[in-house]
Order: sequence, then structure tokens, then C-alpha cells
Amino acid sequence: MDNESENATDRRQTLYSDTLLDHFRNPRNYGSLPFPDTAYEEFNPLCGDRIRIELKISHNRIAAARFVGDGCAISIAAASLLTELVLDAEIAPGDLVSDEELLASLKSDIKPSRMKCALLPLEAFRSCVKLYFQSGGGKSV
Ligand code: FES
Repeated sequence: MDNESENATDRRQTLYSDTLLDHFRNPRNYGSLPFPDTAYEEFNPLCGDRIRIELKISHNRIAAARFVGDGCAISIAAASLLTELVLDAEIAPGDLVSDEELLASLKSDIKPSRMKCALLPLEAFRSCVKLYFQSGGGKSV
């Protein structure tokens, strides 16, 4: 490997942490739920990539979180990490996960131009929660 290739590899490793690459290559909670209580698909108008988040709610807690979609390494890894972060969380109308929390979980240097990729699953998740409460789901336990 010449110096230029090594530098390119080093840069990629700094941009994409082992955590990000692991969640991209082995996404957790990938797939659909048989009967989700709420679901929402968000797309990135810049590239056309899509991430759909599905949630199962039980006793006001997120009992299952899954995702499907086509996206780049950042968006798939972010979706995978998000489904782990929200599992068993108490569902509430406010933000359950902040932008900063999800970005921190990627442990990578996400450039402003790729911010939409990293936050795409979170936007879908927030819409899921909003729809859940709009449809009156929060009233039943
Ligand atoms: Fe499309 Fe990242 S390039 S979501």
C-alpha cells in the first residue's frame, strides 16, 4: 500500500468509526414488524434514499423497533443504532433522542454535508412518535 492509499484509508477510518462500519455491515433490528403500532418512511430528497422506522408499543414503552430501507453507510448505521437507543424507552410526545445523542453514537466525524444522512432515521422516528400520539395511541395502555 503506497502512502496515498494509506492516507485515504486513515481518513476513511477517522470518518467512519468501527461502530459505524459494524452497524452498517451488520444492521441491528433490520426488517419489518408484523403489526407495527406506528411506522413512517422518510426520504432524503438529495439522494432519494429511504428509511422506514416501525415501532411496537406496549405499556407506553417501545417494545420493538425495526427499520427497512436503502441508504448509505451513515444512514443505515444511524438507523441501526437508533433502534437500539430507543428500545424499551418510555414513549412520550417530546424528543426521546436528540440529534446530538444519535450523532455521538456513530462515533464518527459526520460532515455537515452528510448530516441529513445521519439524521434521516431520527426524522422518521420522530414522525412515528407524532403519528402514534395523533392517532390516539398514547391514550390506551
Ligand atoms: Fe442518501 Fe446518505 S447518501 S442518505
